Amino acid sequence: MSAMPPPADSAFTVAALLALGHDCRYADDLTGAESRFSQAIAVDPACAEAWGGLGAVLAETGRPREAVAALTRADTLDPGLPFRLAALAAAEAACGEPAAAAATCRRWLTLCPGSAPAHRILADQLLRLGDSAAAATALREVVLGDPGQADAAATLVGLLTDQNDPLAALELAQPTLRRVPDHAALHFQIGRAWQRLGETVKAVAAWRRCLTFAEDTSPEAAGAQAALSAGAHVTPPVSPDHAPDRLYVRALFDRYAERFDADLIGRLGYRAPHLMREAIQALPDIGAGGLDILDLGCGTGLAGVLFAAHARVLAGVDLAPRMIEQARRRGIYHHLEAGDLMTVLEREQNRWDLIIAADVFTYFGDLGPVLTAVARALRRGGRLAATVEQAQEDDGVVPTPSRRVRHGAGHLGRTAAAAGLVTVSLTPATLRTEKQEPVGGLVFVLERP
Ligand SMILES: C[S@@+](CC[C@H](N)C(=O)[O-])C[C@H]1O[C@@H](n2cnc3c(N)ncnc32)[C@H](O)[C@@H]1O
Repeated sequence: MSAMPPPADSAFTVAALLALGHDCRYADDLTGAESRFSQAIAVDPACAEAWGGLGAVLAETGRPREAVAALTRADTLDPGLPFRLAALAAAEAACGEPAAAAATCRRWLTLCPGSAPAHRILADQLLRLGDSAAAATALREVVLGDPGQADAAATLVGLLTDQNDPLAALELAQPTLRRVPDHAALHFQIGRAWQRLGETVKAVAAWRRCLTFAEDTSPEAAGAQAALSAGAHVTPPVSPDHAPDRLYVRALFDRYAERFDADLIGRLGYRAPHLMREAIQALPDIGAGGLDILDLGCGTGLAGVLFAAHARVLAGVDLAPRMIEQARRRGIYHHLEAGDLMTVLEREQNRWDLIIAADVFTYFGDLGPVLTAVARALRRGGRLAATVEQAQEDDGVVPTPSRRVRHGAGHLGRTAAAAGLVTVSLTPATLRTEKQEPVGGLVFVLERP
């Protein structure tokens, strides 16, 4: 049996009840509002506005499940109203239905693509669903749209740090910090990002700032206190063989990328690539070109540019994407890749005629693994041209205060031989200056026989 249409004069009744319902709601008389919207529904069960009003009142009086039912009814009767989808998403979230709430937010976003509240609710639901990558994307929309959203920024900084991108986290936090300098949770997360980068002094400063602004019993106060007292901040980010953490190296060079060339050549008299080219050109059988060359830790391409004339193929790999961007601008590489050089070396055996590594092994501890990987990646007769900063101790692998690593000639010779590489040349030289002092190193060529 089909529903009876409402009597003709019922439209006036419904309109009056709706007006009364809204008046009651705005006057904070939620009981009155609920009863008026319910009466309107009794007269016209197909009135979307009455269902929507009732849903809003149910949500406001702490009955989210009933609110979801009413708002869903309203949305079915009159779909696609952003404010109703906002109320529905909030009610679904309050019911603990993150998948439904996320789906509603996505519908809301198709109508209002830039909506910060939609992205904010969506991010919370995605976090509950365990999809932190998508949550970070949604939070980024919120924070980029309004850097004053410090809660969202703090969550995002934490997520990016957990996703191994603390540098992006710190960059993103800056505009929010300028607008909201006293947000405790943001300082706590900034501390974590600095800690992840191995910048312990900055981490400690951020946690102390967090404690200045935090409520004593807040989770961020507890977190900062724990981090400071656990001494986690004094653990240097180095592996057992003294190599600095890859993430630290990547962030260091990402930050440095735009100034790198001017600094190294202009200020520090950097000569490693030239010295390596001299060592290679001194070999009797090195032709004019035609070599497949891999540039390890290619940076901005200062070495690549000197070896390009010898190359049939010139490929480069570097941990720091912004260094890779600078290298790409030179237009000399056939292939460039942001990532760990070990991955590239291990990907293909017997591939390269010449591998170059200018001032890169200073970010490695024991050279054994990397030289073994180099030996496998070289063709027979292929060479490695590289530099290390020289340690005084012959067999030493010695970390420096600036988080680099020096290697002794003995360590180099021993690990090269163990990898099956023959030393073609090994020359002490000044590679650059540091604080006006020459930095002594070794320029060497190894060959896979
Ligand atoms: C001092 S720069 C030298 C750059 C370039 N070879 C040159 O001579 O101008 C060291 C470079 O090595 C890169 N690097 C360090 N460890 C790396 C690794 N494990 N994989 C790839 N690149 C790395 C750094 O990101 C940085 O760009």
